[in-house]
Amino acid sequence: MNSEPQRKPVSVNTLKRFKDKQEKFACLTAYDYSSAHVVSARGVDVILVGDSLGMVVQGHDSSLPVTIDDVAYHTRCVNRGNRGAFVIADLPFMSYYSELKSLENAAVLMREGAQMVKLEGGAWLADSTRLLVRHGIPVCAHMGLTPQSINHLGGYRVQGRDPQKAQEMIDEAVILQDAGADLILLECVPLALGRKITERLVVPVIGIGAGPHTDGQIMVLHDMLGLFPGRPAKFVKNFLQGQSNGVQGAVADYVEAVKAGAFPAPEHCYE
Ligand code: KIV
Repeated sequence: MNSEPQRKPVSVNTLKRFKDKQEKFACLTAYDYSSAHVVSARGVDVILVGDSLGMVVQGHDSSLPVTIDDVAYHTRCVNRGNRGAFVIADLPFMSYYSELKSLENAAVLMREGAQMVKLEGGAWLADSTRLLVRHGIPVCAHMGLTPQSINHLGGYRVQGRDPQKAQEMIDEAVILQDAGADLILLECVPLALGRKITERLVVPVIGIGAGPHTDGQIMVLHDMLGLFPGRPAKFVKNFLQGQSNGVQGAVADYVEAVKAGAFPAPEHCYE
């Protein structure tokens, strides 16, 4: 059923090379065959099967109701459509409450075609990270605004504005890198902090609302196509608006803008 040719597959080494050569890379979420096919064929380097599916696909208020079976199902669908992007799948809420649980659930996602798993948190994830990496499972640590902790954080707010909290985040990112994380995702932090963490780490950093200096950028597909109802966050840009080549053109323009360093622009960033 796949109509586009497979491109040279992106691996964890490709992402590291992007960082070393200071080349920006583009990431998007995808949750099904068709979206995975479009985004990978239009040059997106990384597909995230994000637990944002709880909101944009299932219509919940948060990502908390998403289960490991949900992410496994969507990873399977994405895997059929993918044309060579690197696939990361989210370990959802309460699926990594112990090291053993993280290993068991990560194995489920890897068997469905994920090439890396993403966990939300800081230094407390170091032991799970070490265990996963020891078993050949690459890890992305999601820091800053961590939507699975929304009830604890008290809302979708910028994180790390306070200098002490910012320093803690830098230190914890280094701990996770040292534990073996191959990628860090930073959500909703001031651009100066996004820059500091990116410069401090040797592993690539992906940002969403983290400014223009991170090695890669990510957006939720439904946000960049203007499909999700409600007021978009500051860091969202609708690439479908004014687009003459439809969804394919929107994705291609997003990839081009990220790689050229034109997205995010100052209006998408937190000072
Ligand atoms: O679940 C998701 O889509 C994410 C993005 C917000 C990065 O984690």
